[in-house]
Amino acid sequence: MKPLIVALDVETEKEALALIRATKKFVDIYKVGPGLILRYGPSIIKKITSARRKVFLDLKFHDIPSTVARSVKEAPKCGVFSATVHISAGENALRMASQAKPRPKLWGVTVLTSLSEHDLLSLGFPPSPLEQAVRLATIAKGAGIDGVVASVGETANLRKLLGPQMTIITPGIRLPDDSLGDQVRIATPQHARSAGANFIVVGRPIIESDDPALFAAKMMRDWSKKDSIH
Ligand code: C5P
Repeated sequence: MKPLIVALDVETEKEALALIRATKKFVDIYKVGPGLILRYGPSIIKKITSARRKVFLDLKFHDIPSTVARSVKEAPKCGVFSATVHISAGENALRMASQAKPRPKLWGVTVLTSLSEHDLLSLGFPPSPLEQAVRLATIAKGAGIDGVVASVGETANLRKLLGPQMTIITPGIRLPDDSLGDQVRIATPQHARSAGANFIVVGRPIIESDDPALFAAKMMRDWSKKDSIH
């Protein structure tokens, strides 16, 4: 599967479908978040699967185990390929979710890429995103989750910890001349790949570019670049 996942962080279905038309040559999976789902319901998922693309439903479930498991069971019925669960929902919630049938691929969120060390400290977590991500990824692996969402800065360590089977999905991706937006811990596609990521998730840089197709191509070129010394 192609490594570039485009986050459909737009307001309208029209914009989402235009973005898919422009980038589908480079993309197999599109990420749908709460904005589009609240506005259009599951019909937006059908529109994407009708364009023969997969849907990554990023609703970041975080609740008691039975509620998380119930949410997860509904996802494949609407045609969802993968869905996110907050690992901090705890081991029982993750285990119940991973044992739910049917279920999509489950990707566990470690530490949001928008959180700085100061944010982590104020939330009562260890100030090191790596320490927190390792702790959460260990729980996810033990609970039978298929992959983890993490920043590129943690990916090399997580790859060692998780082995080759688990999927690592990295948001917070920018080309060197892109603006940060609200992301704090960012990296390039090439850096993500060499650290061991399977997928990169890109939203605003592609959405806000004048030519999303060209930008997607640029991202993929960067992903495929030979490793340099970081
Ligand atoms: O616009 P940008 O490329 O920063 O978008 C990143 C996308 O990835 C957003 O849709 C955001 O919700 C999501 N995401 C993230 N950090 C995580 C998990 C998901 O930025 N840890």
